[in-house]
Amino acid sequence: MKSRALIGLLADGKVHSGESLASSLGISRTAIWKQVRRAVEEGYDIDTIRGKGYRLNTPVDLLDRETILKEMPESIQRRVQLDVLEEVDSTNAEIVRLRPGSGSAIIPVCIADFQTAGRGRRGRVWQSPRGENLYLSLGLTFRGGFSMLDGLSLVLGVAVAEALETAGAKQVGLKWPNDLFLGRGKIAGILVELQGELEEGVVQVVAGIGLNVHMRQAGAVDQVWDSLSIAAPEARWSRNDLSSRLIASLISAADQFAAEGFGAFRARWQARDIFADQWLSASQGDLSGLGQGIDESGNYLLQTDQAVVPVRAGEISLRVVS
Ligand code: BTN
Repeated sequence: MKSRALIGLLADGKVHSGESLASSLGISRTAIWKQVRRAVEEGYDIDTIRGKGYRLNTPVDLLDRETILKEMPESIQRRVQLDVLEEVDSTNAEIVRLRPGSGSAIIPVCIADFQTAGRGRRGRVWQSPRGENLYLSLGLTFRGGFSMLDGLSLVLGVAVAEALETAGAKQVGLKWPNDLFLGRGKIAGILVELQGELEEGVVQVVAGIGLNVHMRQAGAVDQVWDSLSIAAPEARWSRNDLSSRLIASLISAADQFAAEGFGAFRARWQARDIFADQWLSASQGDLSGLGQGIDESGNYLLQTDQAVVPVRAGEISLRVVS
């Protein structure tokens, strides 16, 4: 976004004269006019008011690295290497490119304003419009081999839900394994990907979170979706504030998971289960049954006519039978 500084000045929604903008940015009035034109092309709704100046009509919520870092607890801040980008293919892909050697204790975190190739679970595209939502990934390291990762994606769902509630969202639900629901639809999804080979029991994981913050329209989303601004309009959502809270909550949850395992999270996940006591069917085979929560490894339990059957997270998904 070439017009970032200009948008920052217009962010208060008041009318600013071309002259005052030019003097604040140390450029000519013609250059201001060109930047306004470019910003409009990028999707900003800016009125030109004859004889008075320019006014931005769409609320803006710019990402700012320093603000995000400042709002985090210092103990977390020290462990994080934060990159805030205007544009990237996928923040998950960027973590893979950035990642220091597996011996490093630093946790790489990448946030982008826009993703050109945002990816979701099961090969889906994650719609990532500019300036509206949060696209955040972090690189986590665990010791103990792949088996210790059982339940990790559910743990991250709990961490995101808890962070959103500290920011003002009420009753964030979880749809197994880790979709976050508020209001009538999905507000966030989590994509956990393994990175590299197992080295002496050390596993590297990339965890990517897509959170709908201000989005009011979406082109091609094939699921029932919602955003914080639609589902909880009473709060003033700031992407910087949400980023700080999410990073702190995700890292604390990862620490607790590494130390205590999934057991510390099972009840916390269960309390948010939107499938509990609903009749569900699995995406593969002809399995269906009543939702009974999760077992100690994070598998979803279905009470069928014959028995309680655990469903493993992975390629199978569950849906409510209406
Ligand atoms: C899902 O399908 O529910 C998971 C969506 C995960 C989207 C996030 S956005 C940040 C990170 N970068 C990506 O390309 N995907 C994840």
